[in-house]
Amino acid sequence: MLSIHNLCAYPIIQAPMAGGATTAELVAAVSNAGALGSLAAPLLTPLAIIEQAEHIRRLTDKPFAINLFVQSRPQIDVAKVEAAKQLLQPVCEALGLSALPTPTRWCEDFEAQLDALITAKPAVASFTFDVLHGSQIQRLHEAGILVVGTATNLQEAIVWQAIGADAICLQGTEAGGHRGTFIGRQEDSTLSTMDLLAACQPHLQVPVIVAGGIMDGQDMAAALAAGADWVQMGTAFLSCKESGIHAAYKQRLFNATTDTTRQTRAFSGRIARGLDNRFIQMMAEVAEQVPAYPVQNALTGAIRSAAAKDEQTEFMSLWCGQGVARVRDLGAAELVQALVTEWQAAS
Ligand SMILES: Cc1cc2nc3c(=O)[nH]c(=O)nc-3n(C[C@H](O)[C@H](O)[C@H](O)COP(=O)(O)O)c2cc1C
Repeated sequence: MLSIHNLCAYPIIQAPMAGGATTAELVAAVSNAGALGSLAAPLLTPLAIIEQAEHIRRLTDKPFAINLFVQSRPQIDVAKVEAAKQLLQPVCEALGLSALPTPTRWCEDFEAQLDALITAKPAVASFTFDVLHGSQIQRLHEAGILVVGTATNLQEAIVWQAIGADAICLQGTEAGGHRGTFIGRQEDSTLSTMDLLAACQPHLQVPVIVAGGIMDGQDMAAALAAGADWVQMGTAFLSCKESGIHAAYKQRLFNATTDTTRQTRAFSGRIARGLDNRFIQMMAEVAEQVPAYPVQNALTGAIRSAAAKDEQTEFMSLWCGQGVARVRDLGAAELVQALVTEWQAAS
């Protein structure tokens, strides 16, 4: 029987992080160090998913995970897109950008990505933003792939368990990046990682992974002592040497001395946590009016690329969690080793 237990030496998952962080080098270094590396594939074409998996396999023979956003093709309302572009006009002017292009593609085709993931055959496939159909879980299981579903509230955790997930990743509000909420309003799923664990655990028979604000071995020991089976850490791995984020973004992480993160839907149309900056502030008043993911995410793509090219971090999405002030300047293997040493000392 497939089981997430004993998949690797340590109960640590390097979180999937879309946008360039999870290079093949990062994923492989984490898996080689005895934890589970995850490739974020939500923004990758099906071909890139296969190529990235092959690249990882050239660097490690250990298990790894591939992650996708569960999403359907958006219905495009041209008038609403034009209105959304108008909301972004002040930002374009501040950046010296002329007219914002209308994207020709709003997101990747999920079904084609899932086919590619099954062909790539990682040990684990993790999903966020929605739940899979039973038939999709069956296909993954038939391919020998374990399924992890993300939940931000009890109802979502129960739905993932009922449909056949092999483990549930509980994402607390401290977490960096996008909220995975798919039942109820995103702004209503506000439990912290430990409170979410306490709320869900009595109802779950499958292994539980917790994510959000876990930065060191002490945090890890506390989560495991409270009943979690695994921890999933994003921000802690975001600053690793192998992480592929822009150097200026990485520097902003190192500069953080306290939690200056905010949750915003202004960048993508879905609530996500990142460092506060001018883009978030300029869009604060209209953030509720922007179109839902993936439309706003695609629209702001040109802004984020232009800002990255000019190293203008005030207009880049600097996703990270509330533990950002505790990031370290280490290689991934060193970080895994430090976490294990701290965890063992604290247990
Ligand atoms: C930069 C960044 C990108 C992220 N992208 C994804 C993603 O593609 N898929 C996903 O399931 N979670 C994504 N997340 C959320 C993580 O899986 C995880 O919930 C979060 O990092 C945990 O909180 P922490 O950052 O405080 O460790 C992302 C997080 C960050 C920081």
